Amino acid sequence: MRKILTLFLCLLVSHFASRAQSKVNYFTPGQLWPDDKGTHINAHGGGLFYQKGTYYWYGEHKIAGSAGNRAMVGVHCYSSKDLYNWKDEGIALPVSNDTTSDIAKGCILERPKVVFNKKTKKYVMWFHLELLGQGYKAARAGVATSDKPTGPFTFIKSYRPNAGFMPFYPEGTPVEDKVDCANPKNKSEGFFCRDLSGGQMARDMNVFVDDDGKAYHIFSAEENFTLDIAELTDDYTGHTGKFSRVYAGHQTEAPAIFKRNGIYYMIGSGTTGWAPNPARWFSAKSIYGPWTYHGNPCVGAGSELTFGGQSTYVLPVSGKKDAFVFMADKWTPKDAIDGRYLWLPITFKGDDMEINWMDKWDLNVFKK
Ligand code: DGJ
Repeated sequence: MRKILTLFLCLLVSHFASRAQSKVNYFTPGQLWPDDKGTHINAHGGGLFYQKGTYYWYGEHKIAGSAGNRAMVGVHCYSSKDLYNWKDEGIALPVSNDTTSDIAKGCILERPKVVFNKKTKKYVMWFHLELLGQGYKAARAGVATSDKPTGPFTFIKSYRPNAGFMPFYPEGTPVEDKVDCANPKNKSEGFFCRDLSGGQMARDMNVFVDDDGKAYHIFSAEENFTLDIAELTDDYTGHTGKFSRVYAGHQTEAPAIFKRNGIYYMIGSGTTGWAPNPARWFSAKSIYGPWTYHGNPCVGAGSELTFGGQSTYVLPVSGKKDAFVFMADKWTPKDAIDGRYLWLPITFKGDDMEINWMDKWDLNVFKK
């Protein structure tokens, strides 16, 4: 009996030892990325948030197969001290079993991003929401809050932002770029005016907190023809009605925004579903613009298709100057759970940027 018990214990120990993941100190873009339990990280279309020595990674929990892009589980959260090794923190925002809920199981819930509000001490999560059974028609922004970074987050509301508000125009905006709903000049202005009373469509998105604590929601609006950069309320859970339209009429998705040396940078993509296309980048001196288009920041082999990926976030590395990581998703729509993560360092040449492919790299590529 004792022998059997010892054998059983040995088997149990070796089972858990083989599942425990050994630590790494490098990134291997496009490869499987095991978490602390040895399971490929499941946080697609993700965003990072840093607080007190810990990074939190939030993303879409996908399931296996071609239906795996629908939200059957919720938003997954992981934590890390070094950006290479990630601990599974579980589901931060679960979808609901109530089919009448905005975030009913089976809806589409994409690109979640979390920020911390210093005034309310709440963690605020924004995401792109499509209601159950309606395809990509609803085009809503959803918001949830939590007292802890790892959740659980409580769903608050979903809606189309800035109903009834006309855009804010930064100084110097040419008259031909201003919308007149009595006489829309093109397709995108037509969509803008169509949605004026009910609120603008909000699909691919990001959230950015500026140095002064003001937060902005950046999203693909007007049937994805235009990006809106919209101010959030002081508690970060609503829109103030102030927003500008960026690169109107050119169909940009996957916006990822960051600030360096007082300049705002944004990387985005074209609109080709789950298939990759060339990335595009922009810069501006004010968050509302005018934004200057600079073309594709990726260089070298594979750059014409963003190395197979689509932007999702740009992470400023804590404690390092000029250290920004471009994060992209390599989608696998036939088996959504197998999607890979492409994290690459951004290189700056003056105020210009470049992204090069690397099979393997670590944070030492950045200066101290
Ligand atoms: C591209 C978007 O960037 C993704 O987030 C997702 O919405 C797919 N389109 C769906 O086709």
